[in-house]
Amino acid sequence: MAESYLPPVSREGHVSLTQQIFQGLRSAILNGTLQERARLSSWQDLSAQLGVSRGTVKRAYDLLKDENLVETKGSGGTRVAAILPIGAPPQAAKESGPEGLFYDFETGPQYFQLGVPAQDQFPGKAWHAAWRRAISAEATRPQIYPDPRGLSSLRREVAGYLATARGVRCLTNQIFITSGFAGALGVVLNVMNLNGKKAFVEEPGFPRTRHALEQAGLETIPAAVDGEGIRLPITGLHPGVELTVVTPGQQAPLGMTLSQGRRQELLKWADDSDAWIIEDDYAGELQLSGHASPALAADDTSGRVFHIGSFSKTLNPGLRLGFLVVPRALTERFAVFVGHLAPAGSVVAQQAVQNFMTGGHFFRHLRQMKALYADRKIMLVDALRRELHPAIRCDFEGALSVRLFLPPGTDDVAIAGVARTHDLGVLPLSSWYQRKDSPRGLLLGIANVRRRDVASRCKTLSRVLSL
Ligand SMILES: Cc1ncc(COP(=O)(O)O)c(C=O)c1O
Repeated sequence: MAESYLPPVSREGHVSLTQQIFQGLRSAILNGTLQERARLSSWQDLSAQLGVSRGTVKRAYDLLKDENLVETKGSGGTRVAAILPIGAPPQAAKESGPEGLFYDFETGPQYFQLGVPAQDQFPGKAWHAAWRRAISAEATRPQIYPDPRGLSSLRREVAGYLATARGVRCLTNQIFITSGFAGALGVVLNVMNLNGKKAFVEEPGFPRTRHALEQAGLETIPAAVDGEGIRLPITGLHPGVELTVVTPGQQAPLGMTLSQGRRQELLKWADDSDAWIIEDDYAGELQLSGHASPALAADDTSGRVFHIGSFSKTLNPGLRLGFLVVPRALTERFAVFVGHLAPAGSVVAQQAVQNFMTGGHFFRHLRQMKALYADRKIMLVDALRRELHPAIRCDFEGALSVRLFLPPGTDDVAIAGVARTHDLGVLPLSSWYQRKDSPRGLLLGIANVRRRDVASRCKTLSRVLSL
């Protein structure tokens, strides 16, 4: 018997009837409403039921056939394919990431969520214009392979940004457009054959970096962070370390800038040990007080530093765009690898970002965000001081976060879990440490704190902490 599922159609709006029927049936198949081998109404029946022409329904069925979602076999009529193509889930399931690593992908951001830009102060008009121009250029672009290193026009803009804002002087061919910091990290580990080797990582440090290195088979050795930033352990105790990953501009998550003395120590260590440094410049120019100090790569005279920047904090993490600057002697090696295994992504997104930068909007936006985030941080610290128990120590120096320190042994992971059920996206500090007896606390992002609700959110957090 034929299934009597009727796709919804409307004569208002711009979507053609064929497309509406196709989309309706397609969703019904993908979400399991129409199961494998289910028979669809004949296109003659369906056209009568929907009051549309037979040709309209036939075209919709042809589109389903093109996607291998249905098959037609003689008198058997049209049926949902017996084996749905890969990627077609039998049931619509809500996607979520590995536990504890990511936030919810489909909603949010939650209040206090770390690592996302302000949602309410984005220069939407200039951003739209940049995308409109990119899309119309794309529509007339020849259908050829683009440069796998990234659009040269975007790489030139990035070179300009690096020289002006980060003190890094490099040639365009040292720059590679990547899928954010994470993509660039993967490229460096592969090209430099670092899989299976040992690396110093900051303690505390960005958990995703540690997990990424472990995933690539590296042994991660924690290097403590103090008021001057990373302090390498006595290296004689750890022979054979070939890499240090560091956040010199704004230590993640504690916020201090690597001191001049430590920068020199780190560079000397790399030079003496024939080792490499990955500089994670995730926050780039977003230094909230005064000028951002130059990137570590600016002082690298021996070609030991891989500098990685990301548009995740400055524009939108959904772009999945970042950039990698490699030492001059390694440009060829990286170009070959990237060409084969990690070509830069969507040309349209790259073009839109380049348009935005060329129009001067990127620098203006950064300047405005620095002022906004500095204000929001003060607002948050004031509210926390009013609402939280005075015994809770609050650290807000540097960084795009505020840190709350809780008594030793507190289960900050459980507290963060409870906070999330109250729509507060705080992160547990202990997850940023490798050692078990780590300090306990919470990290609060400042980007989306607003005057109208900061007090009530801090009150909720205070209730969660006293549970
Ligand atoms: C320390 C650190 N590095 C890098 C990133 C950005 O990673 P990606 O560019 O892959 O989005 C983040 C974002 O949260 C971060 O906190």
